[in-house]
Amino acid sequence: MRVQTKLGILGGMSLALIGIARDVDVSKLPPPSMRKDLTYQADIKPILDKSCIKCHGAEKPKAKLRLDSLAGVFKGGHDGKVIQPGGSSKSLLVINVAHLGDKDDWMPPPANKLKIPSLTSEQIGLIRAWIDQGAK
Ligand code: HEC
Repeated sequence: MRVQTKLGILGGMSLALIGIARDVDVSKLPPPSMRKDLTYQADIKPILDKSCIKCHGAEKPKAKLRLDSLAGVFKGGHDGKVIQPGGSSKSLLVINVAHLGDKDDWMPPPANKLKIPSLTSEQIGLIRAWIDQGAK
């Protein structure tokens, strides 16, 4: 019993370390795309350019997170890493764009002044598959 409790706490801590609340129901995530050989440059950057870069580009990036280069995505933001290569359902970026977890963390922020719409399930599926394939 003791051991189980400890493991439970440790599991919660590791999620907390990458900024994901413990009560996120990852079964609600859109499924990863079946497409192979996805790359940041060809498949992911166009999505981020359209929906994220106005707030996560070179100029005053929100949460110090830059999504305009692969290096920026890997570096993460003021809360640390936002993707975990090989583990899309544990990646903060995925949780945030899928509108799971804390509403303050939904991305793009639902009522943003720029009127940038939410990502589609297809786009989230592509991002998931790319992260699961190692985020090349
Ligand atoms: C209109 C501005 C805006 C847009 C567009 C936007 N974000 Fe954000 N983003 C923010 C703000 C503001 C925060 C900081 C929220 C906070 O700290 O409470 C943030 C924080 C984040 C974080 C958490 C970083 C950390 O270290 O805490 C992630 C991940 C993120 N955004 C991803 C995205 C993605 C992916 C997109 C595009 C699909 C996007 N954002 C679009 C404003 C924006």
